[in-house]
Amino acid sequence: MPHDKMALVGFMQAQNCSNFPGSWRHPDARRDFLTPDYYQSVGKTLERGKFQLLFFDDRLAMPDIYGADHFTAVENGIRVVKMDPITILATIGAATKSIGIGGTLSTSYFEPFHIARQFSTLDHMTKGRAAWNVVTSLNDSEAMNMGRRQSVGHDERYDRADEFMDVVLGHWNAWAEDSLILDRQTGRFADGDKVKRLDHQGKYFSSRGPFTVPRTPQNHPVIIQAGQSGRGREFALRWGELIFAIFPNLSFAQKAYAEMLAEANRQGRETDSFRIASLVYPIVAPTQAEAEDKAALIEDLTKPIDSLALLSEVLNFDFATKQINEPFSDEELTNLSGLLAIRDRVLSLSGKKNPTVADFIKYSARGTIKEAPNFVGTAIQVADGLEEWFRGGACDGFVIGASHIPGTYNDFVDYVVPELQKRELHQADYVGKTLRENLGFPGYRIAKRS
Ligand SMILES: Cc1cc2nc3c(=O)[nH]c(=O)nc-3n(C[C@H](O)[C@H](O)[C@H](O)COP(=O)(O)O)c2cc1C
Repeated sequence: MPHDKMALVGFMQAQNCSNFPGSWRHPDARRDFLTPDYYQSVGKTLERGKFQLLFFDDRLAMPDIYGADHFTAVENGIRVVKMDPITILATIGAATKSIGIGGTLSTSYFEPFHIARQFSTLDHMTKGRAAWNVVTSLNDSEAMNMGRRQSVGHDERYDRADEFMDVVLGHWNAWAEDSLILDRQTGRFADGDKVKRLDHQGKYFSSRGPFTVPRTPQNHPVIIQAGQSGRGREFALRWGELIFAIFPNLSFAQKAYAEMLAEANRQGRETDSFRIASLVYPIVAPTQAEAEDKAALIEDLTKPIDSLALLSEVLNFDFATKQINEPFSDEELTNLSGLLAIRDRVLSLSGKKNPTVADFIKYSARGTIKEAPNFVGTAIQVADGLEEWFRGGACDGFVIGASHIPGTYNDFVDYVVPELQKRELHQADYVGKTLRENLGFPGYRIAKRS
């Protein structure tokens, strides 16, 4: 545990629901998700709770692989709205002062120059609070929306992404820290010797430069990554400063966390230069019985179609082509692509070599709040659970999933945050001005691969 305070991250989507698709069906869920007030008010709530970051995930397509059509997903509101993340981040940035603001953009469908410019602009406009979640994208629906027929193969996506990071960080390094002069007397705006061209010519990308945005308040936006496969984790630990994971239980988390620290060590990373934050769903109420009632109501919001649509989306396979109790053949399992950590979780938790569709729904828990650990109880009980994970070598912080918005965040900030602060597990106030300072990182990473 290299950091003495936990990192707390709010996990949102620029859409009609949270990561949990049933969240929009909750009787207390806000319905004004197409307005700035919706996002700004969550930002303000989390800032009141001294969260380090409000983070938005993204995907470049609806979950429309199930039944080869979008109708079912649209009818059921299964994560179908996805607005542009940068606009949403800037909207929240304008209404807040201290909380970090992170969003997702894919290395498979944009140019590195473009992403470098968007996030460094955001870092200036938020005075050093921007973070970029680097994803490689995973399914063919995204490819078809973005001018391709198929997504790139799993490991090659990460090879491309490695080079993508070289280019982005290279551009972010183009303007030296003291390059701006702004002297009206001499007429010198900036030192021409301190702004460098990148001249990158690589296997996948070429980008000349010079970059058009001066160095930002954080030197560069914080890098987030969530790779979970062997290749994905290697990439996450090479580039990530904040690393997201889904650990299904404490013992799994302790093992995975230790493995990730060992991988970081192998790569020569200092352990205080990154943090691993695990997704959890907290459900808090004044008494345990009330919290359990709340959890039961939330579990009832799930429809089986949620799981099927979201499994089809992330495994790039149409689950409507199989009967519910039909096992997957060896060949079908091998041909699944996308988020293979889900396939591997189903194989390991079911103990079956050829799980059925029903096994995938049950053991992946995709589309339900059981996909990640639930901490259900009073503020003290929830804080106990988080403390056990944090102090027990399972993670350095938590990505707080919302069972509904704004309820989850209001409850967490009003009841659990004071308890965590009392135990000195969570910051009493923002310690610095930038996100990087508030995450406690000693420096920044403009590093090349070799
Ligand atoms: C908390 C969390 C947030 C994620 N957000 C996104 C996202 O916004 N978009 C996306 O395509 N993938 C997202 N992912 C998936 C990861 O980027 C990654 O692809 C996945 O964990 C599988 O790992 P692998 O790529 O190494 O197989 C997220 C994963 C986690 C745990």
